[in-house]
Amino acid sequence: MKKHIKLSPSMMCADIGALKETLALFEKHGIDTLHIDVMDGVLVPNLMLGTDFCKRLRNLTDIPLDIHLMIADPEPKIAWFDPQPGEYVSIHAESAKHLHRAILAVKATGATPLAALNPATPLSSVSYIMEDVAGVLLMLVNPGYAGQALVPDALRKIKDLRALADSKGLSGFEIQADGNVGFANAAEIVKAGADCLVLGSSSVFSKERPLEEAILKTKAALP
Ligand code: DX5
Ligand code: ZN
Repeated sequence: MKKHIKLSPSMMCADIGALKETLALFEKHGIDTLHIDVMDGVLVPNLMLGTDFCKRLRNLTDIPLDIHLMIADPEPKIAWFDPQPGEYVSIHAESAKHLHRAILAVKATGATPLAALNPATPLSSVSYIMEDVAGVLLMLVNPGYAGQALVPDALRKIKDLRALADSKGLSGFEIQADGNVGFANAAEIVKAGADCLVLGSSSVFSKERPLEEAILKTKAALP
């Protein structure tokens, strides 16, 4: 049976002026989650999306949020986002003083935790806590901006993480690919082992075609 690949559009790339239409199309096409890139200008060199955006989005759609915390010292700030059961919260290994404790803090809200890794951060940073997370978000670009190119060894890192999860018997372990996931590389990213795709300007929010066409083209690109 074909494995379900979760689609999580990167809302930092969305046209805010057409948000309601965008969400209606996402609901029509069964989009799984909405990826919220939260950036504080400290952990990453950009400021992007925040607590109020999450709250307003919850009032506009039932599609669960997939909150990617690219912020320094995230643990005391998790509650600011009021994470809900069914939502995801990603904590960067590079950002938390105590990553495992931050993961438990996400769990305590009822939301589902993911650990997140920047391109250069080794898998060994999460290998001892894989049983306590639903999966790992792998940044395929250096975080901060949309429209960047994949870092060279990204695919090998996905393969290595999938092999590590399999070696631990973690069959439902989620690997989220975040950054430059496009029409041309989505299939190889999935074949490498990713099963959740963050979709930004390289795919769903590509400027070259209307949104619905981009959604269908993205789905058609999957293996
Ligand atoms: C990068 C962001 C991603 C992504 C956007 O920091 O986390 O959401 O790059 O998608 P692309 O890379 O396709 O514009
Ligand atoms: Zn992200």
